[in-house]
Amino acid sequence: MDANRKELKQFIRPHLTEERFQHTVRVTDTAHHLADIFGGDAHKIEVAGMLHDYAKYRPYEEMRRWIEGSVDVPKDLLNYSPVLWHGPVGVKMLEKEWGALDKDVQSAIASHTTGNAIMSIYDKLIFLADYIEPGRDFPGVQEARRLAEVDLDKACLFALDNTIRYLMSKQQTVYPGTFHAYNLLQKKQEEENG
Ligand SMILES: [Fe+2]
Ligand SMILES: [Fe+2]
Repeated sequence: MDANRKELKQFIRPHLTEERFQHTVRVTDTAHHLADIFGGDAHKIEVAGMLHDYAKYRPYEEMRRWIEGSVDVPKDLLNYSPVLWHGPVGVKMLEKEWGALDKDVQSAIASHTTGNAIMSIYDKLIFLADYIEPGRDFPGVQEARRLAEVDLDKACLFALDNTIRYLMSKQQTVYPGTFHAYNLLQKKQEEENG
């Protein structure tokens, strides 16, 4: 898995729009910046960042078949928006089309759209980088960026809270993994605050 950025770019390029390709590069650079503050192996971050949206534009029917046919992809995804599927399904497609991936990389790609009940440093870095990369523009992004410079957990919690509120304000469903991630980090804050 000793791929460099040039190889990763060549691999993902045919699968993404120009806009999504640029987003991918910004996410990876942002994740490296966060890792400079909070730690993390640069090579794992490079691979996870560059591959995180690999499956974004695959047909939903193809993704559905992967979810149905893979024992380690949560089946409850099928009850939620297909825009969430490209994370977990991307890991399966990459196993086949790219090759073996490190477990931390797999987890970060799988959980980048939803968050998860357990979040490793890599899960948090990619999730947050995806949320705050410089191309993002939505209410709250400035605050998320500010928090991201000082406290990784607080920044992730802010992003999860903002996402859940947004979905609810639009009367959309919220994937349980997102609530699990929110609860995990909220509980941690409560413990830290005594
Ligand atoms: Fe994504
Ligand atoms: Fe993304």
